[in-house]
Amino acid sequence: MWLNIKTYDQYKDVYRESRENRLDFWEHEAGTYYWRKRWDKVHSGSFKKGDIKWFEGGKLNVTENALDRHLNTIGSKTAFIFEPNHPDSFRRTITYRQLHEDVCRFANVLESKGIQKGDRVCIYMAMTPELVISALACARIGAVHSIVFAGFSAQSLAERIQDCDAKMLITNDGLRRGDKHVPLKDISDEALQNCPSVDHVIVCQRTNRDIEWVEGRDEWWHLLIRNASKHHEAVEMDAEDPLFILYTSGSTGKPKGQMHTCGGYMVYTSYTFRNVFQVAENDIYWCTADAGWITGHSYIIYGPLFNGATGIIFEGTPTYPDPGRFWEVVDKYKVTHFYTAPTAIRALMKEDLSYVKKYDLSSLKVLGTVGEPINEEAWHWYHDQIGNGNCPIVDTWWQTETGGIMISALAGVTPEKPGFATLPLPGIEPALLDENGKLIEGNGVEGNLCIKHPWPGITRSIWGDHDRYLETYMKPYKGYYFTGDGCKRDENGFYRITGRVDDVLNVSGHRLGTAEIENAIDEHDNVVESAVVGYPHDVKGQGIYAFMICEDEPNNGETFEKEVRDLVTKIIGPIAKPDKMMVVPGLPKTRSGKIMRRILRSIAANDLENIGDTSTLLDPAVVEEIKSRQA
Ligand code: WT7
Repeated sequence: MWLNIKTYDQYKDVYRESRENRLDFWEHEAGTYYWRKRWDKVHSGSFKKGDIKWFEGGKLNVTENALDRHLNTIGSKTAFIFEPNHPDSFRRTITYRQLHEDVCRFANVLESKGIQKGDRVCIYMAMTPELVISALACARIGAVHSIVFAGFSAQSLAERIQDCDAKMLITNDGLRRGDKHVPLKDISDEALQNCPSVDHVIVCQRTNRDIEWVEGRDEWWHLLIRNASKHHEAVEMDAEDPLFILYTSGSTGKPKGQMHTCGGYMVYTSYTFRNVFQVAENDIYWCTADAGWITGHSYIIYGPLFNGATGIIFEGTPTYPDPGRFWEVVDKYKVTHFYTAPTAIRALMKEDLSYVKKYDLSSLKVLGTVGEPINEEAWHWYHDQIGNGNCPIVDTWWQTETGGIMISALAGVTPEKPGFATLPLPGIEPALLDENGKLIEGNGVEGNLCIKHPWPGITRSIWGDHDRYLETYMKPYKGYYFTGDGCKRDENGFYRITGRVDDVLNVSGHRLGTAEIENAIDEHDNVVESAVVGYPHDVKGQGIYAFMICEDEPNNGETFEKEVRDLVTKIIGPIAKPDKMMVVPGLPKTRSGKIMRRILRSIAANDLENIGDTSTLLDPAVVEEIKSRQA
C-alpha cells in the first residue's frame, strides 16, 4: 500500500518511524512500484564519500510506472489538459492511453535515429505536450534528457549541449509566451554552430514561421511520428542509471549539470507529490512552472504521472492577455490544486482585484508555493483572495539538487504558518549548523541548513565533475549535505528558509549565479571588472544590481546600460538582465583581493547606515565614493 498520510498524529508517528528505521521506511515506499527486478541493496554510500546509491541492483523503467501501469485501471483518464498561450488557440486533453501511445511512437522515432541507452538528448521547447512526450520517450529508451529552459540564449544552450555531449536536439520552430515570440529554431541553429556532437535535430511545429533548414540534420516531428509504431517495449534500466541532467546555477563557474537517477528519483517524487498535495481521484492539479526547471520535471511530469493524477500543461504567462489569466484557467477547468511561485503572486497582487473576482475559484482545495521565501503579505493575499480563506497553503522548500520537496506542510494534514515551510517530510532530517560547523540544537535558533542523511531523490553527481559535487555539497559540513540556504527553526520546531547564504541569486524564483552574470558583463569592451549582488525587489524577490569599473567613464549612461543589458540577454538570457547598475571607481576589496559583497549588498539595498566595518578594506575610501553615487 502506498503511504498516504492523513492526520497530524499519523505524520508524527510516521516521522518517528522513518527516523528509527530509515532504510525500512524507504524500502517499504519503493516496494509499491513496478520493478522488473527487485533491488539487492536498499541503500549504500554516504555524504562523506559522496557515493550515494539507492535500490542498487533494481531494474525498472520509470515510464512503465508513469504510464503502462495505469493502462488497465485509468487508461481513459485525462493525464494532461493542454492550455495554450492564447486562450482562443487550440486546446486539447490527453488520456493516459494516448500519452502512452505518443511516448511509444516517439521512443521508436528516437531509436530509429540511432539514439540509445545512455545517450544524451537536449530538449529546448515550448511548454506543450510534446515537451513532456520528448522527455518520457527519452526515459523509455534509457536516453538521458537534458531540458533547457526556452528562455535561455543560444550561448547558454550551446554550453549545456557541449557539457553533456548531446547527440540530438529536440526543439520547436518557435514559441509564443505572452505577446513575445521566441524563434527557437533560429536560436538552436546559432547554438549548434558550436555543437559538433549533435547530428539530429527534430523540429516540432508550433508557430509556423519561416525557418532555416539543414538537410540531413533537421527533420519534422510530425513527419517522423506519422509512420512510427505505437508499440514500444521499454528499455530495462538499473535503478542507478541516469534519468536526466538538469543544469542549475551555482555561486561559481559554469552551470552545474545535476544528475538524477531512475529508481531513487521515481520513489522520491512520487512519495512527495502524493503526501504534500493530497490529490484525490477526480482532482485537477495545476503547477504553473515551466518544464525547463526542476519544479516542472518533478511536479508537472513525473510525480503526478506516477500517481495517476490529471495535470495542466500551461504554455502562457500570468498576465497575458490580462492579469486574470491564471484565475480564468482555474475557473475553466475547475482546478482543485494550484501550485505557483511567490513572485507570480506578488505580481498579481498588485493588479486590480476585479481580475480575481471575475472568476469562480470555488473549486480550489489546496494552494502551493515554491522557489523562494514567501512574504506574509503575499501569503495572506493568496490565502484570503485566492483560497477564500479555506484552502491550506503548502510552502514547499526544495532544490534542483534534492529532486523533490523536503520541507513542507502536508496539505490539510499538518499545520501551516505564514512564511514558514514548516516541517520536514518523513525520511528527511534537517540540521542547522553554525559557521564553525557546529550543530545547533534546540528550538528558536538559526543557522545554515544541512540535511543529515541521504534520501532517494538527491542528485548523484554533477555531470562530468564529481569533484565539484563533493566540494559544493559534501565538503562544507563533513557528514552533511549542505543546501546553501540560511534557515530559522522557531520555538515549535518549524522551519523558515531565510534565503541563500552563498553567491546565488533568486530572481523571480529563478536561480542565477552572480559569477555567471559578472562574466557576461565583463565581456563588454568598456568594463574592466564587475560585481553583482541581489537587493530586495517587491515583485521579483531579488533584483540584480551590477557595480562596474569602466575603462572610460561612459559618456552616455543610458546607452551604456542598454548595451550591458543586451549583452547579458545575449549571453545568458533575459532573466539575467541587471535591474540596476552603477559605474564605480573601484570595488570594496579585502587586502587579499576578495570583493566584500556584504558592503555592496547594503549599498544596493539603500541601507547606507548598516554598512558595517570597512577598516579591513584595501581602500575604504572607495565605499564613501560608491555611497555618494548611490545617494
Ligand atoms: C533554491 C533552489 C525547488 C524548485 C524551484 C527552485 C529557494 C526554493 C523555497 C521555499 C524559500 C525556497 C532556496 C533553494 N527556495 N523553495 N519554499 N522557501 N526558499 O529550485 O532553482 O534549485 O533553487 O530556491 O534558496 O536553495 P532551484
